[in-house]
Amino acid sequence: MHVLLTAGPTYEPLDPVRFLGNRSTGKMGYALAEAFAAEGAEVTLVSGPSQLPDPASPRIHTVRVETAAEMFAAAEQVAAEADIWVFAAAVADYRPAQVAAEKIKKSGETLTLELVKNVDIAATLGQRKRAEQFAVGFALETTNELAHAQDKLRRKNFDLVVLNSLRDAGAGFGHDTNKVTVLDAAGQIVNFELQSKADVARGLVSLILARRPLSSNV
Ligand code: CTP
Repeated sequence: MHVLLTAGPTYEPLDPVRFLGNRSTGKMGYALAEAFAAEGAEVTLVSGPSQLPDPASPRIHTVRVETAAEMFAAAEQVAAEADIWVFAAAVADYRPAQVAAEKIKKSGETLTLELVKNVDIAATLGQRKRAEQFAVGFALETTNELAHAQDKLRRKNFDLVVLNSLRDAGAGFGHDTNKVTVLDAAGQIVNFELQSKADVARGLVSLILARRPLSSNV
């Protein structure tokens, strides 16, 4: 069983010293990599910039990238042969239209940046998903959470979507604990109570292994 996992943030360069990024630490994605490896899977962990060390398991092959474009290129290389795809990365939706070759010097009182859309890694690969492959995405919503998460599942061709809670203390970016709700295409819901990211990861991996198509069990 081969698992493709994206994790962490992406950094989109603005000039040689600056970038646009986000607060993702990679903890949830790395915990998922460990949990899949513990179940005997071979994992390709495509990680954006994260302070976390490469997981020690020999079953986890870590590929370090910086930008969304690099993350897509690395994920695309293994997507076809992977049985399970998990998109845990917080990918920047936009990047600066121009990357300055030299450090941008301050001049006027305001500075306007033009941003262009990045590739949607999950949605693009989702269009190529075969019947025996299984895709899991993450969603962070602030309004109409369940409806938006299910819409994301449909648009990106996910089999399951993991909805991160923003409302609960101790859940989400930077924390060691998380509280998530998992949804499938039929609207079926599984709730995970607030617990360590390692425990959430183990629970998610059990759920994924129980749900994936039987043809990929061999
Ligand atoms: N994702 C991705 N590539 C992107 C953006 C998102 O692979 N360029 C994946 C994330 O890893 C996650 C899922 O898609 O699994 C949801 O990301 P999100 O940014 O919430 O989706 P959007 O549809 O871009 O969100 P919104 O429309 O709410 O901005």
